[in-house]
Amino acid sequence: MMDFSLGLLGFFFALPAIYGLDPSQCITPLGMENGLIKDEHITASSSFDHGNVGPHHGRIRNELHGGAWCPLTPATPDLKEWIEIDLQDVHMITATGTQGRFGNGQGVEFAESYMLEYWRPRLNKWMRYHNRTGNEVLKGNINTYLESKSQLDPPIWASKIRFLPFSYHRRTVCMRVEIYGCRWTEGVASYSMPQGDKRGNSWEFYDISYDGHWDGEKLKYGLGQLTDGQVAPDDFKLAFYNTNAQGWVGWKNDTRENTPIDIVFEFDKVREFTAVHLYCNNQFTKDVQVFAEARVYFSIGGKRYKGEPITYDYIEDVIFETPRNVSIKLHHRVGRFVKIQLRFASRWMLVSEITFDSTSINGNFSEEEELEEKSALDDQIATPGINNKNVVSAVNTQGGLGNYLGVVVGILSVLVLLMIAAIIVVIIKQRRYKSSLRPSQVPSGCDKAVLYQEASLGRFSRSSDYADVKDSEYAVPLQPPTQNYRHPPPLLDFLPKPPPGPPPSERYYAATEICNTGFVPPPPPLSTPPPVRLSRQPRYVSNTSRMHVGP
Ligand SMILES: *[C@@H]1O[C@H](CO)[C@@H](O)[C@H](O)[C@H]1NC(C)=O
Ligand SMILES: *[C@@H]1O[C@H](CO)[C@@H](O)[C@H](O)[C@H]1NC(C)=O
Ligand SMILES: *[C@@H]1O[C@H](CO)[C@@H](O)[C@H](O)[C@H]1NC(C)=O
Ligand SMILES: *[C@@H]1O[C@H](CO)[C@@H](O)[C@H](O)[C@H]1NC(C)=O
Repeated sequence: MMDFSLGLLGFFFALPAIYGLDPSQCITPLGMENGLIKDEHITASSSFDHGNVGPHHGRIRNELHGGAWCPLTPATPDLKEWIEIDLQDVHMITATGTQGRFGNGQGVEFAESYMLEYWRPRLNKWMRYHNRTGNEVLKGNINTYLESKSQLDPPIWASKIRFLPFSYHRRTVCMRVEIYGCRWTEGVASYSMPQGDKRGNSWEFYDISYDGHWDGEKLKYGLGQLTDGQVAPDDFKLAFYNTNAQGWVGWKNDTRENTPIDIVFEFDKVREFTAVHLYCNNQFTKDVQVFAEARVYFSIGGKRYKGEPITYDYIEDVIFETPRNVSIKLHHRVGRFVKIQLRFASRWMLVSEITFDSTSINGNFSEEEELEEKSALDDQIATPGINNKNVVSAVNTQGGLGNYLGVVVGILSVLVLLMIAAIIVVIIKQRRYKSSLRPSQVPSGCDKAVLYQEASLGRFSRSSDYADVKDSEYAVPLQPPTQNYRHPPPLLDFLPKPPPGPPPSERYYAATEICNTGFVPPPPPLSTPPPVRLSRQPRYVSNTSRMHVGP
């Protein structure tokens, strides 16, 4: 008997770990009935009488005191009252259940319908839940004792959830609730990517269940179809005749001039990755094919993607049209951000699911990143390849100097002779062009090369301020948006640091004004402010590991 119950206990606690993504397995009651959710994590907008019908009595199949949570005011279409459950961590919630107040036969109150709102750190705001067809109202109870259970399709990812009793007419309600799901062990906090494209007039390969922000082009801060664990039907056309079977997100090559599609995944913590799996459509007779090439980049802070990307070429298959789960080995690379860059093989590319095999790891990653973030431009992602090469060549040059001193001395003496010759030439020329101005002193000219030089000189000469954000911010206006100017790589760490230079000269600012004809100011802040700036995520940086760097 003892063994049996211990075994049962073990099974019970093992459940959340076993249940990963598969939504058909992610159905465990999360603890209203059995008390895993503590009283202090259940709150409400109000209660008719806290001791008797307070929020902590809103547990399904529990009959203590009044026997349910009863709000102070009746339910109306205004949704003024709610009961909130704080799950502490992000969970995937696949179903909800409600009951009325039975109260040992005395109760008569129940909610005929309700709505859900949820909160997640990355969204940082309350979102109203709606199902795939846009319906927000969930069916509640028809009596005081039977549970009404609603499957949530799409599922909800949330660390807090609220039930809001709803009624078209004023109605006294009481509720007992339960939520079903599992811990979100995947660790994906959000993904961002371009919204899908339309095919023809009516077919939209949009990520319809995405719950983040859509700024008209890019999706940000949310989760949706790519992580919901639901595999789309083999034939993408089915998805449009049967709304329950949607699930392909698709992009068309010519609306984006064949540039690759970037999908950036942000994780809860720094993780070590062993593989990524992309479930892709391959209906080549309908212009859909698996990507031709995938590049996977890793970053700790989301600004800089360091190291060589992992490149994966997909050998095209024009024999079988069935969708396939393409797995790419990630060789234990480490990061909190993973950028997947997919190149088109055909006119269309359709993806339904992207999952990762990863484990979270500990270390001083945030510290390392702060240094880098400050030196990086806000909207610029350094090209890892270029960085590496420059660093390597700089180191090599230094080694070469040491090894071939004789050769260097020879070269230097030749240089000295050349310089003497050059000085003579210059002196002669100066006599002839005494009255000419040097080009950099001509104020009306806007020599781009001079500006570039200045910007980079500014960065290099003030090495002590290297970590200062201002540097890169001042440098931004000098950068004409039409050109692909790349910042000089951060060689400073490898070179001896010169003494701190003077602050930016007057001329530096003047040049900005004179030459700002091509400068387009950054777009104004979005009207719906994004909940969190990408550059800082205080929620995810644990206090203990975070270190203040710089002055
Ligand atoms: C959305 O909810 C409504 C009302 O409950 C239901 O009729 C509809 O089938 C649901 N849609 C999906 C896709 O589940
Ligand atoms: C793809 O394969 C991996 C590893 O076998 C698996 O974990 C994942 O669930 C699969 N994805 C789909 C959508 O079948
Ligand atoms: C898109 O793909 C189709 C088919 O592979 C190709 O014919 C077309 O040129 C591509 N469009 C662009 C803009 O590259
Ligand atoms: C990590 O950071 C802590 C302080 O935040 C420091 O004491 C420790 O030495 C660091 N460890 C490493 C390996 O850098």
